[in-house]
Amino acid sequence: MTLIDFITAQAARLKQAGVSFWHGTTNAFDEAAWLVLWDLGMELDALEAHAKRELTTEEQAKAEALIGRRIDTRQPAAYLTKEAWLQNVPFYVDERSIVPRSFIAELLADGEGTGTLDAWLSEHTHKVLDLCTGNGSLAVIAAMAYPEVVVDAADISDDALEVARINVDKHKLGKRITVIKSDLLTSVAGPYDLILCNPPYVNAQSMSALPAEYKHEPALALAGGDDGMDLVRTILRDAPAKMTPNAVLVLEIGNERPNFEHAFRRLEVAWLEVSSGDDEVLLVTRDALARWSRK
Ligand SMILES: C[S@@+](CC[C@H](N)C(=O)[O-])C[C@H]1O[C@@H](n2cnc3c(N)ncnc32)[C@H](O)[C@@H]1O
Repeated sequence: MTLIDFITAQAARLKQAGVSFWHGTTNAFDEAAWLVLWDLGMELDALEAHAKRELTTEEQAKAEALIGRRIDTRQPAAYLTKEAWLQNVPFYVDERSIVPRSFIAELLADGEGTGTLDAWLSEHTHKVLDLCTGNGSLAVIAAMAYPEVVVDAADISDDALEVARINVDKHKLGKRITVIKSDLLTSVAGPYDLILCNPPYVNAQSMSALPAEYKHEPALALAGGDDGMDLVRTILRDAPAKMTPNAVLVLEIGNERPNFEHAFRRLEVAWLEVSSGDDEVLLVTRDALARWSRK
């Protein structure tokens, strides 16, 4: 059987089994292609060039077994391959941290002044915080996007921080990224010019309805209390004290915009457009936070 026919057949298996996506892919074909190519030791972009390659019986049996594991265990593909890609950057990942998929990554500049966030930054942007860093992916992408900055990557989870260190080393960024254990902003020094934060924000009702794939991820990385805003409340309260006068905070809140707007009624924010729409990531200035805290 050719590679393309084999992947198509494995995609049908995934679809038939009703696995959930959203941990790096959005559909059965891409998920099957990712797992099969990885199993064959091929680059993820090799499909087109090798679509008509005939697979041996052994190759097929091995890749079929991997797809079988994906179906039987419901582990996200990244936990099976121990690798996830974000903005074309590869990251090590395992069950100690969630699979990286933050939309904030899309907003980070490409180093040529064309990123969405560039309008909010300046030559004075030197100190960046990736709060709730998980496997360190946003810290790494920020350090790559802005060669002049230094980044603190903070998380409360020792497990997640171990994975973050692996990724900092993998990308040889140890001189510019400091990994810090901190309960939100309590143990970071600052002040920061830019804070990036993809915190746990899933509300209690949604937590109870998450597909099995999400249950392989640390609950600490997802659950945000009754309205999803438990951690966000603390972050917005404490952030101004750790920000320089012109600093901005970029915050991801997923599908929780109604809960966010209800909890922070009079806070002025800018909603930033990402591939999932314009109501999942917001930007707030230190000034706006300070004004809001006085209201
Ligand atoms: C949604 S994950 C984001 C991980 C990573 N930034 C990403 O985008 O893939 C949230 C992270 O917040 C961390 N976390 C949970 N409670 C925290 C707290 N009180 N202080 C710091 N980090 C916390 C979790 O360990 C988890 O790594």
